Amino acid sequence: MSKIIISPSILSSDFANLGRDIRMIEKAGADWVHVDVMDGHFVPNITIGVPVVKSIRKVTGLPLDVHLMIENPRKFIKPFADAGANIITFHYEAVERTEILELSEYIKNFGLKSGLAIKPDTNPEEIIEYIGGFDMILVMTVEPGFGGQEFIKICAQKLPFFREYADEDLILQVDGGINDETARVCTRLGANSLVAGSYIFNSENVSEAIGSLR
Ligand code: DX5
Ligand code: ZN
Repeated sequence: MSKIIISPSILSSDFANLGRDIRMIEKAGADWVHVDVMDGHFVPNITIGVPVVKSIRKVTGLPLDVHLMIENPRKFIKPFADAGANIITFHYEAVERTEILELSEYIKNFGLKSGLAIKPDTNPEEIIEYIGGFDMILVMTVEPGFGGQEFIKICAQKLPFFREYADEDLILQVDGGINDETARVCTRLGANSLVAGSYIFNSENVSEAIGSLR
């Protein structure tokens, strides 16, 4: 299995010191920066938008991994691409089936990686026909909307299905409730990208926390 990509979620950072916190995770060995975008419609919370991504682009060279938890993601793909995103992931549940592959192409045309995310109640079989069109599949291991929730074990059981049906170079990401123990469960089952917010930002030693996920 390839290297594990660690993508700390800045949702659990101190927004009053966002630049400082991003430099801290970069120094501590993070591979990507996970940016949770919520619109108060697709999920019951509002978080970060385009101007914030534009600002954080200036303080880090790490790839910006933008997780769109919004309705009508098409509208925001270009603005986030222009702001400096490197990976854009949207939710299967937020779009029409007929536009899924086209949206992935649209993201890739900006030179970015595309990701398709599924919520805990979505079966992996539902998206099998779309997997080949994406660089990454994001398996949510909590209900999207908030940091600090408990890992839903059964969601990790979707991972071997994707590993079996996808090309070897598919990035398989998990997001929600990831700590040193749940990370091991997920990587054993085939995940190679781990998003972790509260576990990393609430730890006393961020380098050790990131290291413990690998
Ligand atoms: C939840 C977000 C996650 C969240 C993870 O909707 O997509 O990225 O920040 O937070 P933790 O790691 O605390 O569960
Ligand atoms: Zn996320």
